[in-house]
This record gives sequence, structure tokens and C-alpha cells, in this order.
Amino acid sequence: MRHLVFGASGQVGGAIVRELGAMGEAVAGTRHSGSDDRYHKVDITQEASVVEAFSAAKPDLVWIPAALPNVDWCEEHPDDSWAVNVEGPARIMEQARRADIPLVFFSTDYVFDGTHGPYVETDAVRPLQTYGRHKAEAEQQLLQYHGTLVVRPAWIYSGEPMPRNFVFRVLQDLKEGRPIRALADQMNTPTPAGPMVRQAWQAVRDSFRGILHLAGPERLSRLHLVRRIAQLSGYDPDLVQPIGSAALSLPAQRPLDGGLATLFPRYAIYERLEDLDFSKLS
Ligand SMILES: NC(=O)c1ccc[n+]([C@@H]2O[C@H](COP(=O)([O-])OP(=O)(O)OC[C@H]3O[C@@H](n4cnc5c(N)ncnc54)[C@H](OP(=O)(O)O)[C@@H]3O)[C@@H](O)[C@H]2O)c1
Repeated sequence: MRHLVFGASGQVGGAIVRELGAMGEAVAGTRHSGSDDRYHKVDITQEASVVEAFSAAKPDLVWIPAALPNVDWCEEHPDDSWAVNVEGPARIMEQARRADIPLVFFSTDYVFDGTHGPYVETDAVRPLQTYGRHKAEAEQQLLQYHGTLVVRPAWIYSGEPMPRNFVFRVLQDLKEGRPIRALADQMNTPTPAGPMVRQAWQAVRDSFRGILHLAGPERLSRLHLVRRIAQLSGYDPDLVQPIGSAALSLPAQRPLDGGLATLFPRYAIYERLEDLDFSKLS
């Protein structure tokens, strides 16, 4: 099968390329501002660019991790967020519909308001900020196509040394002695990137369509998570200080009592932070 990954230069896109490549699948990927020349430069806000990517790759399956996922930036640039987070995926979906091939779209736990997590696939969405509203809108548009699988992950991490990986960022701060504060009142279900991709690929092969929550097995606060990262890599967890979200005046409101669970146990993820290979991170 030939896969086309829009946003292969990102954290999730990179995991898709690695996991599928390790299984012997043929994978083509795209980048936007990135410089990795393994990937074709594509702007999903441009129709011609998307059409050209399809003609070049002739995919049997399309993956869409491409997004602007910085919630505060989206709050302050709603038009750009709409162009990339809603219109871009809808444009790709139209090409997938024409080719009659399935697509996997990556959405987010931020479609929920975080008043009573964890949330399952059938819970009503109620986003608190522009980013979540745009992702919820994209879900609605893409689900009009029968070939769409919408994956919702939360707080994605991996063993890759890239700034977009929060485990890597925490370890850099610890290594360089920078003070770390982490939210004690934000709860979520951290999601390991590799297992998430493997479960999404299994769901595609099972012809699962619709919405699927793929998140890790534990729900914990950001503070607890960051202290665990410190402990697992040999640092004193008390170097991480608690802070409440009210003390940070960020542009976008976050879901606090959040996280995801699934109604489909076949796709449950069991790997925890303890199972992560830290060897490339320090
Ligand atoms: N990270 C998380 O914790 C998390 C949690 C829940 C859900 N998600 C969802 O998972 C998906 C992937 O997130 P991520 O962490 O992998 O994000 P990321 O690392 O920021 O990757 C985003 C990708 O989108 C590409 N892109 C941005 N603008 C583009 C444009 N105009 N045209 C084409 N490509 C463009 C980027 O390309 P360049 O880098 O080359 O510019 C990059 O490859 C997103 O849909 C996000 O909503 C992420």
C-alpha cells in the first residue's frame, strides 16, 4: 500500500513515517516550513499544491497530521488557523474522495471543555478556544466522507529528540538547570506516538471509520507527568514546581479536567512513560 503523509516533518507525521516504514510500507511525506528534503514541500492552504502531492504520490491511503497545533498562536491568528486546520484538511479530503481512498485525520482532546474527563468518542464536543473549535469543525467536514477515520490523541510524546516533543523539552530544561513549573490543575492522558500510530494503522486495516480516541492508559496532572519524566531520567522530581493555571494568563483557555478514554478496547494503548526509550533524549 502507498501512504501519503501530509505533515511528515512534524512530531506525529515523523512517527507515522517511522512506524509504517518499519513495517515495510511505502510512505511518501510532505513538509511545509521544514527543510528535511526526504519530503515534498506542500502548502495545504493551496489547492494546486495538494493536487500535485496526490499526483506525485498516487496514494492508496492518506494521513493528515498537518496542522497548526499551537493553541495560543491560533487564538491570536484565527484566520490562519482556519486556513490550515479546517480548509486544508477539507481540501485533502476532496482529493481522497475523488480517488476513493481512506484518510486518517488527527484531531485533539481540545474539542472537549475539560469539565469531567476522561471523555469517550460519543461525548458531546464543547471546545473552549479557537484551536478546538476549528478542529471540531474539521472533524464535522471530514466525517461527511465515508472513508474518514478521525483519531483523537492527547499530549503526545515520543523518544525523539525534537523540540516539539515535550519529554525532550523537559529533559533539556533539567540538563541546563532551568527552573521548571508545571500545572498542577490540568489533567490529561499522555499518549505515546509510536503505539498511537500502530493502533491507528490497525483500525484502518479493520476498516474502522468515524471517531476513535487513542490515548495512553493513565490520567495524570501535568505536574505529576513532568515529575515522572525527571525521576525516570535520574533527576530530583522536586526540581519541578507546581503552578496553577490561573497564575498563567495565556491567550487560550485549556481544558483542565480532561483526557480521553475509548469505547473500543481493541485499540486501547497500554504503554506508559516507563516504557519509553529515553536513549536518544539525553
Ligand atoms: N502534539 C500533541 O500533543 C497533540 C495532542 C493532540 C492532538 N494533536 C494533533 O496531532 C496532529 C499533529 O500534531 P504534531 O504535534 O505532530 O504537530 P507538529 O509537530 O506541529 O506538526 C505539524 C505539521 O503540519 C505541517 N504544516 C503546518 N502548516 C502547514 C501548511 N500550511 N501546509 C502543509 N503542512 C503544514 C508542519 O510542517 P513544517 O513543520 O514543515 O512546517 C508539520 O509537519 C495535529 O493535528 C494536532 O492537532 C497533537
